[in-house]
Amino acid sequence: MPEQGLNAVLLSKEQIAGIVTRLGREITECYRDSDKELVVIGLLRGSFIFMADLVREIRCPMITDFMTISSYGNETISSGDVKVVMDLDESIADRDVLMVEDIIDTGNTFSKVVHMLEGRSPASLRICTLLNKPSRRKAEVNIDFCGIDIPDEFVCGYGLDHIQKYRNVPYIGIYCGPEN
Ligand code: IMP
Ligand code: MG
Repeated sequence: MPEQGLNAVLLSKEQIAGIVTRLGREITECYRDSDKELVVIGLLRGSFIFMADLVREIRCPMITDFMTISSYGNETISSGDVKVVMDLDESIADRDVLMVEDIIDTGNTFSKVVHMLEGRSPASLRICTLLNKPSRRKAEVNIDFCGIDIPDEFVCGYGLDHIQKYRNVPYIGIYCGPEN
């Protein structure tokens, strides 16, 4: 039975685990022979659960870092304005950078963050997202490691929120509002 406010399970715990394992394998394969240091960057807060599971499936030496970008606020439509609320601690110059996102929707937020980090001269910059909503894309984002394409629904759970709630739900469900 889904949580109140979520009307259907889009991805079960087991399905998510399968996707994360596959992504970990692809990422490991990609970086295995690189002589650069790998920095895995999670965008807070949405990616924290995915990032925690994903890094344990990547069998390469790495360091981790986080960044907080403000995008939606409490709205469900991205304005395209981004602000760095908390920057990285690490330098990414001459390092392999892997950015980890929970979901890429319009791409408005993410494309700006990518552009900003490219300006810091990483040796390489790749993108991993658990969920992708290609039907809503407005800004181009080249995803290197994609968990799964999903339909145009607002989803919550496994780190994804609706006004900060549902992040702790262990599966990904479709949000349907408080009255349902
Ligand atoms: P974008 O700029 O439209 O690609 O979206 C940026 C952010 O909006 C994502 O990183 C998420 O935090 C949030 N977001 C987009 N779609 C959803 C959703 O279906 N559920 C929860 N958060 C979402
Ligand atoms: Mg996010």
